[in-house]
Amino acid sequence: MSKVTAPSLKERKMRGEKLAVLTAYDYPTAKLMDECSVDAILVGDSCAMVVMGRENTLSLTVDEILHHVKMVSAAAEHAFIIADMPFLSYQISTEESVRNAGRLVAEGGAHCVKLEGPARIFGDTIRAIQNASIPVMGHLGLTPQSIHVMGGYKVQGKDQESRKLLKQDALELDELGCCAIVLECIPPDLAEEISASVSCPTIGIGAGAGCDGQVLVMHDMMGWGGTRFTKTFTDVKTSMEAAFNGYITEVKAGTFPAQEHQYS
Ligand code: KIV
Repeated sequence: MSKVTAPSLKERKMRGEKLAVLTAYDYPTAKLMDECSVDAILVGDSCAMVVMGRENTLSLTVDEILHHVKMVSAAAEHAFIIADMPFLSYQISTEESVRNAGRLVAEGGAHCVKLEGPARIFGDTIRAIQNASIPVMGHLGLTPQSIHVMGGYKVQGKDQESRKLLKQDALELDELGCCAIVLECIPPDLAEEISASVSCPTIGIGAGAGCDGQVLVMHDMMGWGGTRFTKTFTDVKTSMEAAFNGYITEVKAGTFPAQEHQYS
């Protein structure tokens, strides 16, 4: 199995190969995904919500996500590792942005960083990070770090003006050299139109089948406490509950451990 790299993402798009991306935040999960040949693993700032139990992604720090990026990158042999840049790690100055992106790559072992927003705001930052030889993935549409400006987790690009702007933003990120662009919660026909117009792959989440790839938050697709609208591929929560309840019942009843579970 060949390693997935930033340049190979575009090659895969040209070959018409769809990209399957999942989030992971720890070593054993990332190892299993890598063994299943997932193309890329995103250490998303969704970590704050699905793993840390926080209300939104805004309080996650670089040090916190770095801890998770290290675990995930230690597991990956072929998957491309993307690290999310937390809120305020790339909004303050280009210098701080490059330093923070550099930490995620140098200390964390990520192959790429992802940041939310258009080139008309973050163009200089994206250029500076890329000039430090770090591939950048864009993220447009519903950008959860802007939740207070958007007024909640809402579908974006519903009217003509915002559709036009979203397409223009995607073209500009592509022009800047982003290795891929996440399109979150936008109408499927717009996502399809954008995907056909940019040279880099689009990775959709709640953006329909016309994207060049898909990304899902692992906990959402496993029915494990996630809240986003998606398909549940397996019901891990029920299996875990059965295991926990079985263990508790057997310990209380004194039937676990049995003879075969003890060291002689
Ligand atoms: O943080 C995350 O998991 C993400 C995905 C929703 C794309 O950015």
